[in-house]
Amino acid sequence: MTLSNRTWFALFIAAALVAFGLGLLATGLGSRQEEAPARTFVTPIGDQERDPAVWGMNFPLEYRNWQRSSPAQPQPAAPAELFAGYGFARDFNRTRSGFPDGQHPATCLDCHDPRTMKLRVGQKAFSEALARRGVDLAKASDQDLRTYVCAQCHSTYTFRRDEGLDFPHEKGLKSDEILKALEERGVTDWTHGVSGTPMVKLRGPAYELGSQGVHAFRGVTCSDCHMPYIQEEGTRIASHQLHRPLRNPLEAQCIPCHRWPGSELKARVEDIQSSHRELQKRAEAALLSAHQALAKREIPEARTLLRRAQAHWDFVASEGSDGFHAPQEAARNLAMAIDLARQAELTVRSSSPAP
Ligand code: HEC
Ligand code: HEC
Ligand code: HEC
Ligand code: HEC
Repeated sequence: MTLSNRTWFALFIAAALVAFGLGLLATGLGSRQEEAPARTFVTPIGDQERDPAVWGMNFPLEYRNWQRSSPAQPQPAAPAELFAGYGFARDFNRTRSGFPDGQHPATCLDCHDPRTMKLRVGQKAFSEALARRGVDLAKASDQDLRTYVCAQCHSTYTFRRDEGLDFPHEKGLKSDEILKALEERGVTDWTHGVSGTPMVKLRGPAYELGSQGVHAFRGVTCSDCHMPYIQEEGTRIASHQLHRPLRNPLEAQCIPCHRWPGSELKARVEDIQSSHRELQKRAEAALLSAHQALAKREIPEARTLLRRAQAHWDFVASEGSDGFHAPQEAARNLAMAIDLARQAELTVRSSSPAP
């Protein structure tokens, strides 16, 4: 017995309708972008348009929100002696100078395609670094992009011979792997003014440290916490102030996933941070002591130990979240710093006395 052509056709149409319906359901569930109100362009935006005011003609809510300064929060400074002899002028990417106080320096073009407004990574050197790790940015999910748009600036960087930006990510994102990549490049950022140690500078690796934490492991992105949905002039938008979460009501950022009261969440963050700062102070004491012990002594093994010790400390000290992004990995780095610094000092003490 065979089914007639007409029956086959009817079955085919029914199956197609079911598949189409499932497809609609899947895109509806998967995309957060669709929840935002539809916006249309009032005026086209040039491919290289860096002026946010031009973007703001089309998207005034995000523009006004982005523009609104949030008071900068002073961070406790690291002991200056750890950076003896270092010229901070080299860190051009990382200073607030040139921006209104508290306003975040990223502009629309850094994160959005001017024609479609889709998220995209403006920093070419970062896409190249991803490619070297086997990640094809063109195939990245919307969710991954919500981290990459931040990672393009909040990663440690160095300079190639031609002075171009370079991200030492090819061996992996853990501090030890980054240190190995920097050592293979033969990077020395400065010679320490007290101990004469050739040093490397880590520059704000929030992405690398964050990648080791439970939030990244569970697929939570930078934007989930730093760009929560808020009401701007009565419309729901992603917050574009990009400031530290503890300055927003935590309800907006954390409660969608955590059912704890805001006060408890804040207390938990502060507890993680104060344990971190305690360990960080001890690491700083160990590093200072090692720099002094190595002063005027030329012992290459001791200098190698000290350079690595300070790099582990700097990895978390320059990162900015006081350990919150990955508490256990941050603590491991500080333990490494303390241990290697003390080893450096022991190496000096056990070698023949200074002439
Ligand atoms: C640091 C990166 C970054 C910068 C800079 C940035 N945006 Fe966004 N923008 C995002 C992210 C992330 C989203 C959320 C996208 C999503 O829903 O996944 C977003 C969403 C949007 C949306 C969609 C509606 C909404 O609010 O959720 C618009 C429109 C928008 N941005 C406009 C702008 C304009 C205009 C500027 C410049 C004044 C700007 N953005 C600067 C990252 C950025
Ligand atoms: C174009 C580069 C760039 C991009 C893109 C970028 N940032 Fe930043 N961000 C900076 C610089 C530079 C600073 C200032 C750092 C300093 O003061 O040392 C900063 C500061 C910050 C601060 C501290 C602000 C404060 O109030 O103290 C936070 C938090 C932050 N960024 C989060 C993010 C997040 C989240 C994203 C992605 C949605 C992002 N940034 C994208 C360059 C960038
Ligand atoms: C689970 C939520 C969460 C996620 C995910 C997250 N952050 Fe944070 N971030 C925080 C908290 C909380 C702080 C500490 C705020 C404070 O101390 O005021 C912080 C601090 C920071 C700071 C320090 C600001 C400064 O003044 O130096 C930067 C920069 C930053 N985050 C960037 C990022 C980037 C980039 C990512 C993604 C790779 C990310 N964050 C992912 C919650 C988060
Ligand atoms: C998109 C979802 C999401 C958001 C937003 C989010 N978290 Fe989480 N958080 C998780 C997940 C998933 C875990 C892993 C444990 C679990 O499943 O509960 C976790 C774990 C934690 C832990 C315990 C792990 C640790 O490292 O000690 C703390 C503390 C925490 N989150 C704080 C926060 C704070 C504070 C915020 C807001 C700034 C926040 N989270 C925002 C999903 C989220």
